[in-house]
Amino acid sequence: MRVLLVAGKGGVGKTTLAAATAIAAARDGARTLVVSTDPAHSLTDVLGMTGRTGSTGEWRAAATPVPVPGAPGDLDVLQIDTRARLDTAWTTVRGAIGGLLGGAGVDPLVAEEIAAVPGVDDVLALLEVGAHTPGYDALVVDCAPTAETLRLLALPEALERLVSRGFPIDRRIARLLGPAGMAPSTVDALDALEQLARELSAVRDLVTGPEASVRLVTTPERVVLAETHRARTTLAMLGHHVDGVVVNRVAVGDDWPAALSARHREMLVAARDRFADLPVRFAPYSGVEPLGVDPLLALADVVLGTSDPLDLRAVRASTDVQVDGDRWFLDVSVPGAELADLDIAMTEDGDLVVDLGPHRRVIALPAVLRRCEVSGARLDLTDAGQVVRVHFARDLAHWSTGRTS
Ligand SMILES: Nc1ncnc2c1ncn2[C@@H]1O[C@H](COP(=O)(O)OP(=O)(O)O)[C@@H](O)[C@H]1O
Ligand SMILES: [Mg+2]
Repeated sequence: MRVLLVAGKGGVGKTTLAAATAIAAARDGARTLVVSTDPAHSLTDVLGMTGRTGSTGEWRAAATPVPVPGAPGDLDVLQIDTRARLDTAWTTVRGAIGGLLGGAGVDPLVAEEIAAVPGVDDVLALLEVGAHTPGYDALVVDCAPTAETLRLLALPEALERLVSRGFPIDRRIARLLGPAGMAPSTVDALDALEQLARELSAVRDLVTGPEASVRLVTTPERVVLAETHRARTTLAMLGHHVDGVVVNRVAVGDDWPAALSARHREMLVAARDRFADLPVRFAPYSGVEPLGVDPLLALADVVLGTSDPLDLRAVRASTDVQVDGDRWFLDVSVPGAELADLDIAMTEDGDLVVDLGPHRRVIALPAVLRRCEVSGARLDLTDAGQVVRVHFARDLAHWSTGRTS
């Protein structure tokens, strides 16, 4: 299934463009689900669905996808009520963690760390999305504003690691021996955490897989462009494929005051420069708010032209280990980042840790690299934009030379 996350700062037009893109995808024949993980629910409003039933509440509370009336194809919409999930799923997990703290085998510090992870509602929103995706060809996600989205997208990985660290090897032994040696609450707790870890890794695969991408929405303003640029860097570093940028509400032309028009024109050039290696598209400032299926489809046609609504065809960064002579290297996409801002280290478990400001990515290295050490890192320009190329050298202590007599 193809997945498109529509992200950007608050108010730039994420919901509008997510809805428009989903309608275009449905028109082109994909069975499409459009979902909002933004707590500021407006997706059904933008789709013109409120008022049809006379009851806003009815749509807002929808726990399962509902068809979009008048859509030119197969299009469902889902607004996620994270509060409801919070009350059920998270209570179970919190209880489970409490059980862990009281039980045997898990480092209390790790359990505490899991319990304290912020933005759990974001994760639950993602889990909800995961639960609803079978049966669709395409998933379009109207994300929460940038900062939260970045957190949300990094969380499954972070939480999953914490959870897996919370499982001591005793766990498997306990399984073999039966739960006799453990308090029933501990067994329940471990089961709940294991379930959560499984769901999280499924969600992570969904949003970072080879069929997933993020499209950034911005407006033609200097500050918003700068924030969009930072978001792009962070998203790429976290392993997401950014497939393009849409500059929305562009007021260029005779209908607009000359000064405004000139400023926006200048910002369009700035956007092309900043995102030179990405497809950049424009959406005109429309005199009336684009609400309802037909105006949204018209907007999508202007933005997308004849492109595939779900793929603007940016070059995908390679995530594979590559060979250079007798050395291996791995590229981590970091468009726009300075080497000085990056911190790269390898853990004892053989994970590569890449830090960029407050953002961290932990990359589980393939076995062959786990026996190596990082021998250097430098910025490089590839077809897919700027990367930090991390070189690995054999760590002799970890290798059997094969020359023993
Ligand atoms: N191209 C556009 N022309 C005119 N108004 C727009 C355009 N795109 C979005 N809007 C309006 O701007 C407001 C914010 O858009 P919205 O999609 O809700 O932003 P976000 O989801 O990023 O917060 C809405 O009132 C929307 O109708
Ligand atoms: Mg919105």
